[in-house]
Amino acid sequence: MANRVALVTGGNGGIGTEICKQLAAAGYRVVTTCVDPEKEKIKEWQAARKAEGYDIGWVQCNVADFDACQAMAKQVEAEYGPVDVLVNCAGITRDGFLHKMDKSNWDAVIGINLTGAFNVTRQFIEGMRERGFGRIVNISSINGQTGQFGQTNYSTAKAGIHGFTMALAKEGARKNITANSIAPGYIETEMTAAIPEDVRQGIVNSLPGGRMGQPHDIARVVVFLVADDADFINGAMIPVNGAQFCSF
Ligand code: CAA
Ligand code: NAP
Repeated sequence: MANRVALVTGGNGGIGTEICKQLAAAGYRVVTTCVDPEKEKIKEWQAARKAEGYDIGWVQCNVADFDACQAMAKQVEAEYGPVDVLVNCAGITRDGFLHKMDKSNWDAVIGINLTGAFNVTRQFIEGMRERGFGRIVNISSINGQTGQFGQTNYSTAKAGIHGFTMALAKEGARKNITANSIAPGYIETEMTAAIPEDVRQGIVNSLPGGRMGQPHDIARVVVFLVADDADFINGAMIPVNGAQFCSF
């Protein structure tokens, strides 16, 4: 995989960091986006990965901003080469019951979690079609499958991600481009740490295994889906939720 470039949006977050590490370990040249390099201390993050043995690049980009995504794509391709693997992992929550939700919290979640996937994928899809190869993985959520208290915005975005994935999968199938989504259950990161303690404890107690998942549980599925020979796994949504929600 030495020549394949993998771009991970939100690659410096909890799940994203593990995706970057596992892709780098599998031989991809990995680049992450970062919204605010100073605030997120991206150079320290990069140095920490380097100390662990992973060489990971970064580019500044707010995925909610189409023009910024266009500029970011030009920069990535100039510095690293064509992007063959794209993981849309950037995401936020702004939880609140609908009867209390500000429009700004609706717009922010849809703009980053759903429109962000369009804004970034749109930059790379033509190149993938021209080269006849592409692997796209979109990080959805169990809460897009089931709905969740306080998450009309997030559940909408994450369910939308799967519609986006299925349509894109059909469009790319004859060009050796796959698009799949992963629907993680509750995973231990800053995102779940932000849930009010009493509610979070209630969620953990309700989980079949009595514990949340870890970022590496998601990353291993990403590595599996982006392999060159994973070309017939297309348009799928892979749940990784410790049996919290089982369906067929
Ligand atoms: N599961 C079950 N019950 C929940 C719940 C949840 N996830 N979230 C809220 N509730 C229940 C509360 O326990 C409470 O029940 P009681 O009235 O019986 O006590 C009721 O809903 C009202 O909750 P609050 O008193 O907390 O009401 P609020 O208006 O102050 O806050 C809320 C509402 C914003 C939804 C807050 O409860 C909250 O943040 N809940 C967590 C929601 C959640 O699960 N978010 C997931 C974030 S992580 C993520 O999204 C990653 C992923 O993809 C899995
Ligand atoms: P996290 O640690 O909070 O990471 C979120 C990442 O998204 C960060 O790298 C953040 O970058 C990035 N991001 C936020 N806004 C952005 C923007 N406008 N443009 C570009 N990047 C942006 O959360 P996580 O738990 O790892 O979540 C990663 C993904 O998994 C999200 O899509 C989330 O919805 C999904 N997910 C999480 C869980 C879970 O239980 N944790 C479950 C299901 C799905 P900065 O740090 O630079 O702001």
